[in-house]
Amino acid sequence: MSQIVTFSPAASIFGFGALEKLPNELESRNFKHVLLITDPQIASVGILQKVLDLLKGSFDVEVFDDAPTEPHSSDVDKQKERFGSDFDALLGLGGGSSMDFAKALTIIMSHGGALGDYVGEGLVPGPVIPVVCVPTTSGTGSQNTQTAVFTIEGVKRGASSEHIRPVVSVVDPELTMGLPPMVTRDSGYDALMHACESFLCRPSAQVSERPILYQGSNPFSQGLSLEAFRYIWGSYRTAISDGSNREARMGMSIGSHLAGLAFSHSGLGLVHALASSLGGMVDAPHGMCLAACTRIGLKYNLKACEEKFVMLANYMEGDDGPNHSPDRFIDNMLALISDLDLPSRPSDLDLKKEDAERLLENTLIQIRRIKTNPRPLDDELLSDIEKGI
Ligand SMILES: [Fe+2]
Repeated sequence: MSQIVTFSPAASIFGFGALEKLPNELESRNFKHVLLITDPQIASVGILQKVLDLLKGSFDVEVFDDAPTEPHSSDVDKQKERFGSDFDALLGLGGGSSMDFAKALTIIMSHGGALGDYVGEGLVPGPVIPVVCVPTTSGTGSQNTQTAVFTIEGVKRGASSEHIRPVVSVVDPELTMGLPPMVTRDSGYDALMHACESFLCRPSAQVSERPILYQGSNPFSQGLSLEAFRYIWGSYRTAISDGSNREARMGMSIGSHLAGLAFSHSGLGLVHALASSLGGMVDAPHGMCLAACTRIGLKYNLKACEEKFVMLANYMEGDDGPNHSPDRFIDNMLALISDLDLPSRPSDLDLKKEDAERLLENTLIQIRRIKTNPRPLDDELLSDIEKGI
């Protein structure tokens, strides 16, 4: 067990108009030859062109604009030979999938082999071609984290290493103004759950030392996750119903960014472990899988973190009255899921009762999540999953 906590944030440039600072950030790090990774959607809405116009003349930019949503390891492996490795930086522009694609690609461009060789914690042997991120959603917070997520052998897994934490991110809420309501909803639920689970996770003094900074909850992460929760809870519904509301977009943008920074130092928990397993078994966005696993994960953890549930319930209600019950937190989360028409059970995403054991098996291998879950996993979980499906 470790009593020592490390805080190692990446540099961030944040605010409306921050994108204008991107050339300075690249210039100051001497990044001239850049591989820009994005997806067809970002290319079609003009954001790619906007970035290319900013970089024109001063940088040598190659573009890969075909990053798939929710990538498989083979999607990344396929691109390794295509680009060589003489880049100064990889620039991930887009949602979590594009940023994770850049983080995954830099591993195999820098160290060879296949992405599957690096699944787990701390397996990247040394520095990589640096990654710069420009997020266009308010969701994963991947611009702040040391993990690239992808599907491999039917399970969503991650390669986690401090070497792949982006060196700088430019977070401009303006880029999220045109996001459709469903993308705002699904990516925003991910951010909300990052804030919740990083706040709730096991205290760092009870987590053994690891090669990555998923250390359990600690003084750095706690402040960040609570502030992230406050921003996200206060902006989420408005950002979905009125996407042109700049204050709500700003709240989601800073909230998701802080949540990413928080959980990259604390880790997450069971809701994410279940959702990653579910995401490998059904074809649905990460945010929807998280919503579908919220009931099972939070109810299982209730007895390990009653006080923290009360704190979050009090935040949600925003009143000065007596403490709310811990169940109020779960009830409010489930009401939100229902109001937003998100799936509330894995069966809403077509998982069957007979899939419970496989869901559990795939959850138990999500070591990076399980180690920081507030309650150790025991035999009750299988019956909770069966009931919750
Ligand atoms: Fe997530």
